[in-house]
Amino acid sequence: MSSPPREQRPITLLKLAEKRALGEPIVMVTAYDHPSAAIVDDAGVDVVLVGDSAANNVLGYRDTVPITMDELLMLARAVRRGLKTPLMVGDLPFGTYEASDEQAIATAHRFVKEAGCDAVKLEGGGQMAQRARAIIEAGTPVMGHVGLTPQTATALGGYKAQGRNADAALRVAEDALALQEAGCFSIVFEAIPSAVSEELMYAMEIPIIGIGAGPSTDGQVLVFHDLLGISEFGGARFVKRYGDLMDDMVRGVSAFAEDVRGRRYPEPEHTYSIDPGELADFRTRLKAA
Ligand code: KIV
Repeated sequence: MSSPPREQRPITLLKLAEKRALGEPIVMVTAYDHPSAAIVDDAGVDVVLVGDSAANNVLGYRDTVPITMDELLMLARAVRRGLKTPLMVGDLPFGTYEASDEQAIATAHRFVKEAGCDAVKLEGGGQMAQRARAIIEAGTPVMGHVGLTPQTATALGGYKAQGRNADAALRVAEDALALQEAGCFSIVFEAIPSAVSEELMYAMEIPIIGIGAGPSTDGQVLVFHDLLGISEFGGARFVKRYGDLMDDMVRGVSAFAEDVRGRRYPEPEHTYSIDPGELADFRTRLKAA
């Protein structure tokens, strides 16, 4: 199977804006470690998000809330080492940017200096638009995130689509416009009705990346583990599976276990040899030892 054509030059903010202007869809995928980074790089995606969804997808937390800055920074450094071309965005964990502009700037700087992120992402509008502005003024590009914002899902009434009545859709619109006004280079729209996205797109001047927001956005993002089926759970309505790697991996490990138990592994080609003379010498000296 041939690989898709590769974008060799690093993806920049300008390139994303150009893609939007040309109507070329933007592809964003999450990655949380070195192999997944190398895979998405090879596949030619435009933007890689080191998402706080690492919390549930690789660290075994219930949701995205408990992941710490140090945990996400460690994963982001591994991703950095695996990426050549895509723009790399680090997700600011819950509790690391909301309290003050100073806190938000300090956290963003750690993602850039310690993990090599090109940009950071934060969730929510309102006061968070001010945090985005502060981070941008201090030198780090920011991607916003509106609609279903998992870090504050409890306050939103759970993991469910947002903007499903006029009042709620207007709140999503206000958040998106505030983030755009604050200088965000892009915004994620998560889990909002397609028709609401479509209306909002008329007011947006920056690349909008959708996840469960319908086809009208400038790009789409999916979580690596969801799209490849590396998960015990089915995922949200918007997840489309392009693989069943969890099943493949369980099959592979089970086959190894069966081979070991049936003494079919290792076979001669998996073993190392020694010169017969050296072996005889070794036996004699081992007995004497
Ligand atoms: O952390 C994440 O995976 C995200 C995407 C859903 C956009 O924020």
